Amino acid sequence: MSYNNIIVDIDDYLEFITIDRPKKLNALNKETIAELHNAFRDLEENENVKVIVITGSEDKAFVAGADISEFSHFDGEKGSQLSREGQELLFDYIENLSIPVIAAINGFALGGGLELAMACHFRVASTNAKMGLPEVTLGLIPGYGGTQRLPLLVGKGKAMEMIMTANMITAEEAQRYGLVNYAIDQNELIPFCEELAFKISNNSSTAIAAAIRSINASYNNQVNGFDTEISEFGKCFETDDFVEGTTAFLEKRKPNFE
Ligand code: COA
Repeated sequence: MSYNNIIVDIDDYLEFITIDRPKKLNALNKETIAELHNAFRDLEENENVKVIVITGSEDKAFVAGADISEFSHFDGEKGSQLSREGQELLFDYIENLSIPVIAAINGFALGGGLELAMACHFRVASTNAKMGLPEVTLGLIPGYGGTQRLPLLVGKGKAMEMIMTANMITAEEAQRYGLVNYAIDQNELIPFCEELAFKISNNSSTAIAAAIRSINASYNNQVNGFDTEISEFGKCFETDDFVEGTTAFLEKRKPNFE
């Protein structure tokens, strides 16, 4: 499938999605959100893909936010619709994807850009990256899950401060707060993510999918995460990967997961 605003590259088990609107610092307009949704949906159906890395084109921005020019004339109803549709199509969709998604934050990750990174399963940032939720400078609040995911990652007090001040933080600060797992030199960002992806790809993808569902359940008030874990743990015993993993261990060899 061809896209106007993103580049999708499959390299064996690893999939790169690059948001490619550099003249607008990769800001997320409606079309880009729809394209990202379609790309993630297609990848989930591709059994060969084990890990997805999402990044921004060129070296200045991951994503500098939602595209402000698209919503500056909206009323309340359209604003709610923008937020709801975006969350469903992209942000919640990524969080609940059964394939691990790593955000490779290569520059500015602001507003919807940081929210996109936070919806991914984890984040690696380059040391030139700047992250923040500047929505209150526009008379808005974060609308793509930022008020919900930021406190889970950095704690309520730091989230309040970041959102109220609209301050941008560095990659090192973000690492200290737990917002990103690593702060890496920009030249090393993609090779480092590739290494992580390689490690992940050697493990059981059915077990990883079960782990994603279980971990996400602990942040869902409507379910008991421990019950989800018990159920997902039990289901793992029914999989070929469980047979292969335990057999390989007992035979003192490396597992070969399908
Ligand atoms: N929406 C729409 N366009 C955006 C954008 C956004 N979120 N962020 C950047 N752009 C556009 C700029 O309008 C500019 O376009 P133009 O050349 O047609 O005028 C282009 O991207 C380059 O941005 P510019 O502001 O000139 O770059 P800079 O280096 O001076 O500043 C930022 C970089 C990231 C500090 C600045 O672009 C910015 O503050 N962006 C908005 C961040 C934001 O508020 N995001 C939350 C949105 S909810």
